[in-house]
Amino acid sequence: MNKIKIAVVIGTRPEAIKMAPVVKALENSEHLAPIVVATGQHREMLDQVFDIFSIEPDFDLNVMRPNQTLPALTARLITSLDECIGQIQPAAILVQGDTTSVLAASMVAFYHRIPIGHVEAGLRTGDMDNPFPEEMNRVLAGRLARWHFAPTVSSRNNLLIEGVAPDSIYVSGNTVIDALFDARRHPAKVPYQRSDKRRLMLVTTHRRENFGAPLGDICAAIIRLLEANPYLDILFPVHRNPNVSAPVREALGNHPRVTLCEPLDYLSFIAGMEAADLILSDSGGVQEEAPALGKPVLVLREETERPEAVSFGVAELVGTNPDRIVRAVQKLLSDDSAYRAMARGSSPYGDGKAAARIISVLESAFQKIPESEVLAPL
Ligand code: UD1
Ligand code: UDP
Repeated sequence: MNKIKIAVVIGTRPEAIKMAPVVKALENSEHLAPIVVATGQHREMLDQVFDIFSIEPDFDLNVMRPNQTLPALTARLITSLDECIGQIQPAAILVQGDTTSVLAASMVAFYHRIPIGHVEAGLRTGDMDNPFPEEMNRVLAGRLARWHFAPTVSSRNNLLIEGVAPDSIYVSGNTVIDALFDARRHPAKVPYQRSDKRRLMLVTTHRRENFGAPLGDICAAIIRLLEANPYLDILFPVHRNPNVSAPVREALGNHPRVTLCEPLDYLSFIAGMEAADLILSDSGGVQEEAPALGKPVLVLREETERPEAVSFGVAELVGTNPDRIVRAVQKLLSDDSAYRAMARGSSPYGDGKAAARIISVLESAFQKIPESEVLAPL
Protein backbone atom coordinates (compact mmCIF):
# COMPACT_ATOMS: atom_id res chain seq x y z
CA MET A 1 0.00 0.00 0.00
CA ASN A 2 1.31 3.47 -0.86
CA LYS A 3 1.66 5.53 2.27
CA ILE A 4 0.86 9.24 2.42
CA LYS A 5 4.06 11.30 2.34
CA ILE A 6 4.57 13.74 5.21
CA ALA A 7 7.65 15.95 4.83
CA VAL A 8 9.34 16.67 8.17
CA VAL A 9 11.60 19.71 7.91
CA ILE A 10 14.43 19.92 10.45
CA GLY A 11 17.04 22.68 10.62
CA THR A 12 18.73 22.92 14.02
CA ARG A 13 19.64 20.80 17.05
CA PRO A 14 16.46 21.45 19.07
CA GLU A 15 14.23 20.80 16.04
CA ALA A 16 15.95 17.45 15.50
CA ILE A 17 15.52 16.47 19.17
CA LYS A 18 11.87 17.51 19.23
CA MET A 19 11.03 16.04 15.79
CA ALA A 20 12.76 12.70 16.40
CA PRO A 21 9.71 11.24 18.21
CA VAL A 22 7.45 12.49 15.40
CA VAL A 23 9.66 10.88 12.74
CA LYS A 24 9.63 7.59 14.71
CA ALA A 25 5.84 7.72 15.10
CA LEU A 26 5.44 8.34 11.36
CA GLU A 27 7.77 5.41 10.62
CA ASN A 28 5.47 3.21 12.71
CA SER A 29 2.27 4.51 11.11
CA GLU A 30 0.35 2.14 8.85
CA HIS A 31 -0.86 4.98 6.68
CA LEU A 32 1.71 7.80 6.75
CA ALA A 33 5.42 7.87 5.92
CA PRO A 34 8.03 10.52 6.89
CA ILE A 35 10.25 12.17 4.31
CA VAL A 36 12.93 13.83 6.42
CA VAL A 37 14.30 17.07 4.98
CA ALA A 38 17.37 18.31 6.85
CA THR A 39 17.95 21.91 5.90
CA GLY A 40 21.38 21.83 7.53
CA GLN A 41 20.86 25.27 9.11
CA HIS A 42 23.04 23.65 11.79
CA ARG A 43 25.67 21.16 10.71
CA GLU A 44 27.65 19.32 13.42
CA MET A 45 25.00 19.98 16.08
CA LEU A 46 22.26 18.60 13.80
CA ASP A 47 24.22 15.52 12.75
CA GLN A 48 24.92 14.71 16.42
CA VAL A 49 21.15 14.37 17.06
CA PHE A 50 20.46 12.38 13.89
CA ASP A 51 23.16 9.92 14.99
CA ILE A 52 21.69 9.50 18.47
CA PHE A 53 18.16 8.86 17.17
CA SER A 54 19.30 6.89 14.08
CA ILE A 55 17.57 9.23 11.65
CA GLU A 56 18.84 9.31 8.07
CA PRO A 57 17.56 12.38 6.26
CA ASP A 58 16.06 11.71 2.81
CA PHE A 59 17.28 15.16 1.70
CA ASP A 60 20.08 17.30 3.10
CA LEU A 61 20.14 20.88 1.85
CA ASN A 62 23.37 21.69 3.69
CA VAL A 63 22.68 25.45 3.84
CA MET A 64 24.86 26.39 6.85
CA ARG A 65 27.68 28.89 6.33
CA PRO A 66 30.05 30.07 9.09
CA ASN A 67 28.58 33.04 10.96
CA GLN A 68 25.60 33.20 8.61
CA THR A 69 23.34 36.27 8.49
CA LEU A 70 19.60 35.88 8.87
CA PRO A 71 18.62 37.31 5.43
CA ALA A 72 21.23 35.24 3.53
CA LEU A 73 20.24 32.10 5.47
CA THR A 74 16.55 32.73 4.74
CA ALA A 75 17.27 33.23 1.02
CA ARG A 76 19.28 29.98 0.77
CA LEU A 77 16.60 28.08 2.66
CA ILE A 78 13.75 29.28 0.48
CA THR A 79 15.58 28.48 -2.76
CA SER A 80 16.65 24.99 -1.64
CA LEU A 81 13.34 24.09 0.02
CA ASP A 82 11.38 25.22 -3.04
CA GLU A 83 13.22 22.73 -5.23
CA CYS A 84 13.12 19.94 -2.67
CA ILE A 85 9.42 20.26 -1.78
CA GLY A 86 8.60 20.50 -5.51
CA GLN A 87 10.36 17.17 -5.97
CA ILE A 88 8.75 15.41 -2.99
CA GLN A 89 5.20 16.73 -3.45
CA PRO A 90 4.22 15.72 0.11
CA ALA A 91 0.62 15.71 1.32
CA ALA A 92 1.63 17.83 4.31
CA ILE A 93 4.70 19.49 5.80
CA LEU A 94 5.59 19.44 9.49
CA VAL A 95 7.72 22.16 11.05
CA GLN A 96 8.79 22.53 14.68
CA GLY A 97 9.34 25.64 16.78
CA ASP A 98 10.55 29.03 15.67
CA THR A 99 13.82 28.93 13.74
CA THR A 100 14.59 30.44 10.34
CA SER A 101 14.15 26.94 8.85
CA VAL A 102 10.57 26.94 10.20
CA LEU A 103 9.79 30.34 8.70
CA ALA A 104 11.25 29.41 5.30
CA ALA A 105 9.59 25.98 5.17
CA SER A 106 6.23 27.50 6.11
CA MET A 107 6.50 30.07 3.33
CA VAL A 108 7.54 27.47 0.77
CA ALA A 109 4.69 25.17 1.84
CA PHE A 110 2.26 28.06 1.48
CA TYR A 111 3.51 28.87 -2.03
CA HIS A 112 3.18 25.19 -2.97
CA ARG A 113 -0.31 25.12 -1.39
CA ILE A 114 0.65 22.26 0.88
CA PRO A 115 -0.91 22.19 4.38
CA ILE A 116 1.43 22.81 7.31
CA GLY A 117 1.43 21.22 10.76
CA HIS A 118 3.18 23.40 13.33
CA VAL A 119 4.64 21.42 16.21
CA GLU A 120 5.17 23.48 19.40
CA ALA A 121 2.64 26.07 18.26
CA GLY A 122 1.41 29.08 20.19
CA LEU A 123 4.49 29.99 22.25
CA ARG A 124 4.57 33.77 22.61
CA THR A 125 6.22 36.52 24.58
CA GLY A 126 4.28 39.20 22.70
CA ASP A 127 7.57 41.03 22.06
CA MET A 128 9.07 40.88 18.54
CA ASP A 129 12.53 41.74 19.94
CA ASN A 130 12.54 38.95 22.56
CA PRO A 131 13.42 36.41 21.42
CA PHE A 132 14.73 37.80 18.14
CA PRO A 133 13.98 36.67 15.47
CA GLU A 134 12.07 33.67 16.88
CA GLU A 135 8.92 35.54 17.96
CA MET A 136 8.41 36.72 14.35
CA ASN A 137 9.15 33.26 12.96
CA ARG A 138 6.55 31.53 15.12
CA VAL A 139 3.88 34.21 14.66
CA LEU A 140 4.19 33.92 10.86
CA ALA A 141 4.32 30.11 10.94
CA GLY A 142 1.17 30.26 13.07
CA ARG A 143 -0.59 32.42 10.45
CA LEU A 144 0.18 29.84 7.78
CA ALA A 145 -0.41 26.56 9.64
CA ARG A 146 -3.38 24.27 9.07
CA TRP A 147 -2.79 22.20 12.25
CA HIS A 148 -1.45 23.83 15.43
CA PHE A 149 0.07 21.34 17.88
CA ALA A 150 0.14 23.42 21.05
CA PRO A 151 2.23 21.93 23.87
CA THR A 152 0.14 23.40 26.70
CA VAL A 153 -3.26 24.97 27.37
CA SER A 154 -1.61 28.37 27.73
CA SER A 155 -0.04 28.11 24.25
CA ARG A 156 -3.50 27.12 22.93
CA ASN A 157 -4.93 30.24 24.56
CA ASN A 158 -2.29 32.43 22.86
CA LEU A 159 -3.49 31.12 19.49
CA LEU A 160 -7.16 31.65 20.34
CA ILE A 161 -6.39 35.28 21.25
CA GLU A 162 -4.86 35.70 17.77
CA GLY A 163 -8.10 34.40 16.20
CA VAL A 164 -6.87 30.92 15.22
CA ALA A 165 -9.83 28.57 14.66
CA PRO A 166 -10.31 26.44 17.82
CA ASP A 167 -10.83 23.24 15.82
CA SER A 168 -7.38 23.57 14.24
CA ILE A 169 -5.58 23.60 17.63
CA TYR A 170 -4.61 20.36 19.41
CA VAL A 171 -3.01 20.34 22.86
CA SER A 172 -0.45 17.59 22.39
CA GLY A 173 2.18 18.19 25.08
CA ASN A 174 5.73 18.96 24.02
CA THR A 175 7.52 16.28 22.01
CA VAL A 176 10.72 17.15 23.92
CA ILE A 177 9.37 15.08 26.80
CA ASP A 178 8.90 12.10 24.44
CA ALA A 179 12.52 12.56 23.30
CA LEU A 180 13.81 12.92 26.86
CA PHE A 181 12.03 9.76 28.07
CA ASP A 182 13.36 7.84 25.08
CA ALA A 183 16.94 9.12 25.40
CA ARG A 184 17.12 8.59 29.18
CA ARG A 185 16.85 4.84 28.68
CA HIS A 186 20.35 4.83 27.15
CA PRO A 187 23.49 5.06 29.27
CA ALA A 188 25.75 8.06 28.70
CA LYS A 189 28.92 9.64 29.96
CA VAL A 190 29.32 13.21 31.10
CA PRO A 191 32.73 14.95 31.13
CA TYR A 192 32.56 15.63 34.87
CA GLN A 193 33.56 13.61 37.91
CA ARG A 194 30.81 13.98 40.52
CA SER A 195 31.80 14.02 44.20
CA ASP A 196 29.71 14.51 47.34
CA LYS A 197 31.49 17.59 48.57
CA ARG A 198 31.27 19.56 45.36
CA ARG A 199 28.38 21.32 43.62
CA LEU A 200 27.93 21.43 39.87
CA MET A 201 26.23 24.16 37.86
CA LEU A 202 25.52 23.40 34.18
CA VAL A 203 25.47 26.45 31.91
CA THR A 204 24.30 26.98 28.32
CA THR A 205 23.66 30.15 26.37
CA HIS A 206 23.09 31.08 22.74
CA ARG A 207 20.24 33.62 22.37
CA ARG A 208 20.92 36.50 20.00
CA GLU A 209 19.54 39.01 22.56
CA ASN A 210 22.39 37.95 24.86
CA PHE A 211 25.23 38.51 22.35
CA GLY A 212 27.73 41.21 23.39
CA ALA A 213 27.40 42.91 26.79
CA PRO A 214 24.79 40.55 28.31
CA LEU A 215 27.01 37.54 27.57
CA GLY A 216 29.91 39.41 29.21
CA ASP A 217 27.68 39.98 32.26
CA ILE A 218 26.76 36.28 32.42
CA CYS A 219 30.46 35.31 32.38
CA ALA A 220 31.23 37.97 35.04
CA ALA A 221 28.49 36.51 37.27
CA ILE A 222 29.95 33.02 36.84
CA ILE A 223 33.40 34.22 37.90
CA ARG A 224 31.95 35.95 40.98
CA LEU A 225 30.10 32.77 41.92
CA LEU A 226 33.28 30.69 41.56
CA GLU A 227 35.17 33.12 43.79
CA ALA A 228 32.46 33.08 46.46
CA ASN A 229 32.01 29.28 46.43
CA PRO A 230 35.24 27.23 46.39
CA TYR A 231 33.19 23.98 46.23
CA LEU A 232 31.41 25.06 43.00
CA ASP A 233 32.29 23.64 39.55
CA ILE A 234 30.91 24.73 36.20
CA LEU A 235 30.18 22.54 33.19
CA PHE A 236 29.60 24.71 30.13
CA PRO A 237 29.04 23.04 26.73
CA VAL A 238 29.67 25.95 24.39
CA HIS A 239 27.34 26.60 21.45
CA ARG A 240 29.12 26.68 18.08
CA ASN A 241 27.87 30.11 17.14
CA PRO A 242 31.10 32.20 17.05
CA ASN A 243 29.24 35.09 18.72
CA VAL A 244 28.98 32.78 21.74
CA SER A 245 32.07 30.58 21.60
CA ALA A 246 34.69 33.33 21.16
CA PRO A 247 33.69 35.53 24.15
CA VAL A 248 32.92 32.56 26.42
CA ARG A 249 36.30 30.91 25.76
CA GLU A 250 38.03 34.25 26.25
CA ALA A 251 36.28 34.96 29.59
CA LEU A 252 36.19 31.49 31.16
CA GLY A 253 38.68 29.37 29.22
CA ASN A 254 41.47 29.51 31.81
CA HIS A 255 39.50 28.96 34.99
CA PRO A 256 40.47 25.67 36.69
CA ARG A 257 36.95 24.96 37.91
CA VAL A 258 35.21 25.64 34.60
CA THR A 259 34.92 22.76 32.12
CA LEU A 260 34.26 24.30 28.72
CA CYS A 261 33.46 21.65 26.14
CA GLU A 262 32.08 21.30 22.63
CA PRO A 263 28.29 20.86 22.40
CA LEU A 264 27.51 17.54 24.07
CA ASP A 265 25.58 14.85 22.25
CA TYR A 266 22.00 14.67 23.58
CA LEU A 267 22.56 11.59 25.78
CA SER A 268 25.65 13.11 27.42
CA PHE A 269 23.88 16.43 27.86
CA ILE A 270 21.02 14.71 29.68
CA ALA A 271 23.59 12.97 31.87
CA GLY A 272 25.10 16.43 32.48
CA MET A 273 21.72 17.81 33.56
CA GLU A 274 21.25 14.84 35.87
CA ALA A 275 24.71 15.31 37.39
CA ALA A 276 24.13 19.03 37.95
CA ASP A 277 22.72 20.57 41.11
CA LEU A 278 21.31 23.50 39.17
CA ILE A 279 21.18 24.85 35.64
CA LEU A 280 21.75 28.35 34.28
CA SER A 281 20.49 28.67 30.71
CA ASP A 282 18.76 30.79 28.08
CA SER A 283 17.75 27.69 26.11
CA GLY A 284 14.11 26.94 25.33
CA GLY A 285 14.48 23.16 25.38
CA VAL A 286 16.45 23.17 28.62
CA GLN A 287 13.63 25.14 30.32
CA GLU A 288 11.34 22.23 29.43
CA GLU A 289 13.70 19.36 30.26
CA ALA A 290 15.15 20.59 33.57
CA PRO A 291 11.79 20.56 35.43
CA ALA A 292 11.11 17.02 34.17
CA LEU A 293 14.48 15.97 35.65
CA GLY A 294 13.87 17.79 38.93
CA LYS A 295 16.66 20.31 38.36
CA PRO A 296 16.14 24.00 39.22
CA VAL A 297 16.67 26.15 36.14
CA LEU A 298 17.55 29.83 36.31
CA VAL A 299 16.64 31.42 32.99
CA LEU A 300 19.05 33.99 31.56
CA ARG A 301 16.29 36.04 29.98
CA GLU A 302 13.97 38.90 30.92
CA GLU A 303 10.87 37.13 29.60
CA THR A 304 9.89 33.66 28.50
CA GLU A 305 7.37 32.05 26.19
CA ARG A 306 7.41 29.10 28.60
CA PRO A 307 5.67 30.61 31.66
CA GLU A 308 4.39 27.27 32.97
CA ALA A 309 7.63 26.22 34.68
CA VAL A 310 7.95 29.67 36.28
CA SER A 311 4.38 29.49 37.64
CA PHE A 312 5.03 25.94 38.87
CA GLY A 313 7.96 27.42 40.83
CA VAL A 314 10.55 25.14 39.19
CA ALA A 315 12.15 27.80 36.96
CA GLU A 316 13.02 31.42 37.67
CA LEU A 317 13.75 34.31 35.31
CA VAL A 318 17.04 35.93 36.33
CA GLY A 319 17.91 37.98 33.23
CA THR A 320 21.57 38.82 32.68
CA ASN A 321 22.31 41.33 35.44
CA PRO A 322 25.28 39.85 37.40
CA ASP A 323 23.91 40.90 40.83
CA ARG A 324 20.59 39.22 40.13
CA ILE A 325 22.20 36.03 38.80
CA VAL A 326 24.60 35.81 41.76
CA ARG A 327 21.75 36.38 44.25
CA ALA A 328 19.54 33.69 42.71
CA VAL A 329 22.32 31.07 42.47
CA GLN A 330 23.60 31.88 45.96
CA LYS A 331 20.12 31.35 47.40
CA LEU A 332 19.85 27.89 45.82
CA LEU A 333 23.33 26.95 47.04
CA SER A 334 22.71 28.05 50.61
CA ASP A 335 18.98 27.62 51.31
CA ASP A 336 18.00 23.97 51.33
CA SER A 337 14.25 24.52 51.46
CA ALA A 338 14.39 27.02 48.56
CA TYR A 339 16.39 24.43 46.62
CA ARG A 340 13.98 21.58 47.37
CA ALA A 341 10.99 23.72 46.38
CA MET A 342 12.53 24.17 42.92
CA ALA A 343 13.70 20.57 42.53
CA ARG A 344 10.33 18.85 42.71
CA GLY A 345 10.59 16.93 39.44
CA SER A 346 7.25 17.88 37.97
CA SER A 347 6.82 18.74 34.33
CA PRO A 348 4.11 20.97 32.92
CA TYR A 349 5.26 20.18 29.38
CA GLY A 350 4.02 16.72 28.59
CA ASP A 351 3.56 13.05 29.35
CA GLY A 352 5.73 11.55 26.60
CA LYS A 353 2.81 10.92 24.24
CA ALA A 354 2.86 14.13 22.21
CA ALA A 355 4.06 12.51 18.98
CA ALA A 356 1.33 9.85 19.12
CA ARG A 357 -1.30 12.59 19.51
CA ILE A 358 0.11 14.53 16.57
CA ILE A 359 0.13 11.49 14.29
CA SER A 360 -3.42 10.54 15.24
CA VAL A 361 -4.60 14.03 14.22
CA LEU A 362 -2.90 13.67 10.83
CA GLU A 363 -4.24 10.15 10.31
CA SER A 364 -7.72 11.43 10.98
CA ALA A 365 -7.21 14.47 8.70
CA PHE A 366 -6.28 12.13 5.85
CA GLN A 367 -9.30 9.96 6.72
CA LYS A 368 -7.23 6.97 7.71
CA ILE A 369 -8.78 6.71 11.16
CA PRO A 370 -12.15 8.03 12.35
CA GLU A 371 -12.17 11.31 14.25
CA SER A 372 -13.30 9.40 17.35
CA GLU A 373 -9.88 7.67 17.43
CA VAL A 374 -7.89 10.91 17.70
CA LEU A 375 -6.01 10.67 21.01
CA ALA A 376 -7.35 12.83 23.83
CA PRO A 377 -5.50 16.11 24.45
CA LEU A 378 -2.94 16.34 27.24
C1 UD1 B 1 19.60 28.84 15.88
C2 UD1 B 1 18.18 29.39 15.86
C3 UD1 B 1 17.63 29.52 17.27
C4 UD1 B 1 17.77 28.22 18.02
C5 UD1 B 1 19.21 27.76 17.98
C6 UD1 B 1 19.35 26.41 18.63
C7 UD1 B 1 17.50 31.00 14.14
C8 UD1 B 1 17.53 32.40 13.70
N1 UD1 B 1 18.17 30.72 15.26
O1 UD1 B 1 20.46 29.80 16.47
O2 UD1 B 1 16.26 29.90 17.23
O3 UD1 B 1 17.35 28.43 19.35
O4 UD1 B 1 19.64 27.63 16.62
O5 UD1 B 1 20.68 26.12 18.92
O6 UD1 B 1 16.89 30.17 13.50
N2 UD1 B 1 27.27 26.77 13.87
C9 UD1 B 1 28.18 25.78 13.55
N3 UD1 B 1 27.80 24.47 13.61
C10 UD1 B 1 26.56 24.10 13.99
C11 UD1 B 1 25.62 25.09 14.33
C12 UD1 B 1 25.99 26.43 14.25
O7 UD1 B 1 29.31 26.08 13.20
O8 UD1 B 1 26.26 22.89 14.02
C13 UD1 B 1 27.68 28.21 13.79
C14 UD1 B 1 27.84 28.69 12.35
O9 UD1 B 1 28.88 29.62 12.30
C15 UD1 B 1 26.49 29.38 12.08
C16 UD1 B 1 26.24 30.01 13.43
O10 UD1 B 1 26.66 29.03 14.38
O11 UD1 B 1 26.54 30.30 11.02
C17 UD1 B 1 24.82 30.42 13.69
O12 UD1 B 1 23.88 29.40 13.42
P1 UD1 B 1 22.32 29.81 13.26
O13 UD1 B 1 21.52 28.58 13.07
O14 UD1 B 1 22.16 30.90 12.27
O15 UD1 B 1 21.98 30.48 14.66
P2 UD1 B 1 22.01 29.87 16.12
O16 UD1 B 1 22.58 30.93 16.98
O17 UD1 B 1 22.62 28.53 16.10
N1 UDP C 1 21.51 20.15 24.17
C1 UDP C 1 22.40 19.14 23.76
N2 UDP C 1 23.74 19.35 23.94
C2 UDP C 1 24.25 20.49 24.49
C3 UDP C 1 23.33 21.51 24.87
C4 UDP C 1 21.97 21.30 24.69
O1 UDP C 1 21.98 18.09 23.28
O2 UDP C 1 25.47 20.60 24.62
C5 UDP C 1 20.07 19.93 23.96
C6 UDP C 1 19.15 20.22 25.14
O3 UDP C 1 18.98 19.08 25.94
C7 UDP C 1 17.87 20.67 24.46
C8 UDP C 1 18.34 21.29 23.17
O4 UDP C 1 19.66 20.86 22.96
O5 UDP C 1 17.04 19.56 24.14
C9 UDP C 1 18.26 22.79 23.27
O6 UDP C 1 18.93 23.35 22.19
P1 UDP C 1 19.33 24.87 22.18
O7 UDP C 1 19.53 25.36 23.56
O8 UDP C 1 20.48 24.99 21.23
O9 UDP C 1 18.09 25.57 21.48
P2 UDP C 1 16.67 26.11 22.00
O10 UDP C 1 15.98 25.02 22.73
O11 UDP C 1 16.93 27.31 22.86
O12 UDP C 1 15.97 26.51 20.74
